[in-house]
This record gives sequence, C-alpha cells and structure tokens, in this order.
Amino acid sequence: MIKVKKRKILLLPGDGIGPEVIAEVKKILEWLNKNKSLDFEIEEGLVGGISYDKHKNPITDEVFYKALESEAVILGAVGGPKWDNLEFAKRPERALLKLRKELKLFANLRPAICFKQLVDASSLKPEIISGLDIMIVRELTGGIYFGEPRGIMPIENGERKGLNTHSYTTSEIHRVARVAFELAKKRKNKVTSCEKSNVMEAGVLWKEEVQALHDKEFKKIELKHMLADNCAMQLLRDPKQFDVIVTDNLFGDILSDEAAMLTGSLGLLPSASLGTKDKNGKMRSMYEPIHGSAPDIAGKNVANPIASILSLSMALRYSLDLDTEANLIDSAVQKVLDDGLRTKDIMSSEKKEVGTSVMGDAIISKLK
Ligand code: IPM
Ligand code: MG
Repeated sequence: MIKVKKRKILLLPGDGIGPEVIAEVKKILEWLNKNKSLDFEIEEGLVGGISYDKHKNPITDEVFYKALESEAVILGAVGGPKWDNLEFAKRPERALLKLRKELKLFANLRPAICFKQLVDASSLKPEIISGLDIMIVRELTGGIYFGEPRGIMPIENGERKGLNTHSYTTSEIHRVARVAFELAKKRKNKVTSCEKSNVMEAGVLWKEEVQALHDKEFKKIELKHMLADNCAMQLLRDPKQFDVIVTDNLFGDILSDEAAMLTGSLGLLPSASLGTKDKNGKMRSMYEPIHGSAPDIAGKNVANPIASILSLSMALRYSLDLDTEANLIDSAVQKVLDDGLRTKDIMSSEKKEVGTSVMGDAIISKLK
C-alpha cells in the first residue's frame, strides 16, 4: 500500500474530562494509521490547569510552537474550580485564548445538529427540533474578549472599575461574514446575522458591513439581520428557521451554548476554529468539543467522547482533505447510536449505558 506523507496532529487533552475524551480520539487516529494506511504523526502537549500545575504557565512556548507546526490541533477542554482564583494571565482559559488569537483562528464553526436517535433527549418538543441543523459561525479573535483598554482599576471613593472594550473593524467583520456566506452556499443559502445595533455602535457597523459584503459578493444568499436577544428567543421558539448564524465573539459564545442544548446534549457537538489560508494554501485550525472540562465527572469514565470524535472528523474534513475518512467516522457514530449505546449524559430508558472507553471502542468497531 502507498503511504502518504506524515501529517502532524497535535492532541491537547487539557483538564477535567479532556484527557479521557481525547484518549478515544487518539485510538481512532491510531486505527486510521493502521487500517487506512494513513501516517499521522500524533503529538501531545499539556495545556490549561495541568500545564499551570507543572510549569506555572497554562501553555508553554514549546507547546505553542508545536501547535504552530501542526496541520491540525485537537483540544479536549480546559479549566476547573482548582484554578478559579488564579490571576487572569495564568488561568487555564488563557491557553485557549492565546491559541485562538495567535493562530489567528477568527472563524469558529459550531454546528447544532439534532441526531434523530436523540430527539427525545432535548428539553424541547420533538417537532420543534427533529431534523434541526444549524451552523453558528462565531467570530473568535476580536470583540470584547480581546478589546483594549481592559482591566480592573481603582477609581474615586475607594471604588473599583472593571473595564472591557467591544470593537470590530470592517475587515474583521468581512472575513468572518465571508466564511458564513460560503458555508451557506453549501447548505440552505440562508444567513442570519446577529448583533445589538439598537444599542451599540459596533453592532451598527457589524450590520452595515455584513450587508455591504452580501450586496457586493453574495447577492444570491438570503440575508436576515436579527438582534441577538431576539435570536436567543427565536432559537427556542422556532430553531428550524435558521441555517447559518453569524455573530460576534460574545454573542456567539452564548448563542452557541443555547443552540447546542436544543439538540439534547453538549456531549455530541464538535467545533472547528479556522484561520486564513497562507500563501501555500495552508490554513491553521483547531478543533474542540463544545463542552467544557466537566470536573464533576472527570476521571470516572462516564464522559461522552462523541463530541471529540466528531471534532476529529471535522479536522479530517476541513484541514486534511480526508472526506472519506471523515464520513466513515460520522457514520460509525450514527451506527453506534442506532445500536442503542449511550453514555450517561444521553441515556434514556431501554438503551444501554456505556462508559467513555467502551463508547470509543464501539465506534472503532463500526469503522471496520
Ligand atoms: C467556549 C468557552 C470559552 C469561551 C472559555 C472556556 C474561555 O466558553 O469556547 O465557548 O468563552 O470562548
Ligand atoms: Mg462558551
């Protein structure tokens, strides 16, 4: 068999349930190496609280440079109560924010798909969510997460002031909106752009620039503007009205959690964070499950590895041009759910509850 060139994949398990779910991703990568004559070079590194404990730094330069050199980074989760009182620069989340910012991963794709096997796991009525397939495109390197000035400062009367800055430029808005329009082309041709243009200048600019790009380059796509609070409400009232939603960093953080929960479980949903292509056509990227580190269930072999496994499949599809292998993983996940296997988070009556590693093994058995 012909072997293709080695491709570096960096696994960053992180904290909490991160190591358990990423271990299942690693098993699948190793399976692909062995059975599909792929030649992934799998590296690992510490990020988040576990890195802080060892190096007093949530991400060391060594790990950061490994990320720069990899074709795709797959991250588990970071954070936990143990590190909650650290100063900002040392907190586990800083590792994530640094990777996003410095790898220039400005477009965060967060699908909210309702798996047919799990329609009943949602807190909404089945008819509202069955067949749901939304893609949220969240801006990831700008807005209030990174704006300057920022800080906590003393003011008069012994009071303090906490300050963050929300700002966006034309080009920041255009590049993320372009990703949304391009995705819509391959889906249902519909983009909803969300902001708070009724109260914020940055929201007015957002709305105007998304519209301007649309009128210039994407006339055939249906574009709707919606205030972010209305969008939060509409997601619960009638989520199937949406196809692609594009929004800023903060609203995207909130709306994507909401959209994900419509589908019944955070344990199923992957995400991709994509940068621009360089002159060699190479794009930096990072893939993560959308769930957090879930410290309450860490180390108990109960976490759902599906979100991480589907993050790997997104990596194969978006960064490594391996659509066939990505489809293989996606359908293996479907088959395992069809068989009635469930981790605790999506367990319901008459199904079979399994742990993290059994779920991973079952998915591998369906790859064959
Ligand atoms: C997310 C998370 C992060 C964010 C945290 C962990 C910094 O909530 O990826 O949605 O706020 O972006
Ligand atoms: Mg979030």
